[in-house]
Amino acid sequence: MKALVALILLVQIAVYQANAHGPKPIGPSPPLGLRDCDSSEGEEAAEVAMDYINTHHKHGYKYALNRIEELRVLPRRPASEVVILELDLLETKCHVLNPLPLENCTVRELINHAIEADCDVKLLKEDGKLSVTGARCHSSPDSAEDIIKICPDCPLLIPLNDTQVVKTVELLLDQYHSTNDAYFMLIEIARAQMQAPNTIIAEFAISATNCSSKDASENVKACQALSGDQAQFGFCVGSVMHVPKEEIHVECEVYAPQSEVAHPVLAKDNVGLLPAVVQGFSHHNLRHSHSSQFNDSSESNSAEVPVAATLSAKLVVKRTVSEPTAEHPGDVLHPPPPQCPGRIRHFHI
Ligand SMILES: *[C@@H]1O[C@H](CO)[C@@H](O)[C@H](O)[C@H]1NC(C)=O
Ligand SMILES: *[C@@H]1O[C@H](CO)[C@@H](O)[C@H](O)[C@H]1NC(C)=O
Ligand SMILES: *[C@@H]1O[C@H](CO)[C@@H](O)[C@H](O)[C@H]1NC(C)=O
Ligand SMILES: *[C@@H]1O[C@H](CO)[C@@H](O)[C@H](O)[C@H]1NC(C)=O
Repeated sequence: MKALVALILLVQIAVYQANAHGPKPIGPSPPLGLRDCDSSEGEEAAEVAMDYINTHHKHGYKYALNRIEELRVLPRRPASEVVILELDLLETKCHVLNPLPLENCTVRELINHAIEADCDVKLLKEDGKLSVTGARCHSSPDSAEDIIKICPDCPLLIPLNDTQVVKTVELLLDQYHSTNDAYFMLIEIARAQMQAPNTIIAEFAISATNCSSKDASENVKACQALSGDQAQFGFCVGSVMHVPKEEIHVECEVYAPQSEVAHPVLAKDNVGLLPAVVQGFSHHNLRHSHSSQFNDSSESNSAEVPVAATLSAKLVVKRTVSEPTAEHPGDVLHPPPPQCPGRIRHFHI
């Protein structure tokens, strides 16, 4: 924040000097078009961005907005605007297959080994309508040290491909099938935590198949995930304590059939324990969900900056003229700094 204020100040001085002593090169272009993060235009753009991010994220959990870090609005010829957002997100407890709308999903609390994500999102506003043109995200779990500090006994994330985790999930699914006729197949392990000294907690997504548990016990290979109109998913949370006595608890929620969901996790190369990118990691990184990236070399980008630079220089000149009695010319050049980062919606991580 200090650096940002300093940068804005520098730019203003540079612009001021340019006006006072004739044009001078301003140096590398600073972030222009900064706006208040908690403004209604920020909220509106963030909502569109969150929707985009969650519909493009096909593994693990939905994410919720925690804070708008930065908001920039740049005019773009002839009549549209480019909105650039920097967002902080938090993982929710809703798996991406959970049909609950995002606003009904609870954010995972800190002591449950929270996962945060940063996203840069670029949107185009044309005729008052916002659409995402690029998104770049990265997610990471809170550090184990942070959690141990506030909760020494809390279960910590462990790698999803850990052999104990895989074994735990198999046991949990068997346990579920022992009391259910319909056979469900594993789609993905979504989360695994170790509760010291010997309990593993796992969460995983399942899909209904065309088999009964009895069919599956005879020939599991012939069982196929139901798709199309019949596609039906579920999500299980369970734990296995290994010693002194094996104790297994599992609870699965089976969602209503989601006919319109031609979900890519059902594509052949996606079904199974884990997508290749997650091997060795303890969560499904949001980074892998977005094929559309920023394209900084695009021509639209170079067209935006000069327009914005002209605007802000005009703004500064106007202010100087309207407050001619100020003692220190430097003072009158300060537009109110944009209020960023914005409010924290859930918790600081
Ligand atoms: C989501 O939450 C809203 C408001 O709390 C509630 O009215 C609505 O019924 C919920 N929707 C679902 C599907 O649970
Ligand atoms: C499930 O579908 C597969 C492929 O269509 C078929 O080979 C198999 O026999 C079906 N299983 C049952 C129990 O209907
Ligand atoms: C998990 O994945 C990592 C990275 O690919 C690999 O090095 C490790 O051996 C895997 N662990 C198991 C138990 O398969
Ligand atoms: C980036 O922009 C260039 C020039 O407009 C284009 O050729 C290229 O395909 C774009 N790359 C992506 C990933 O969109």
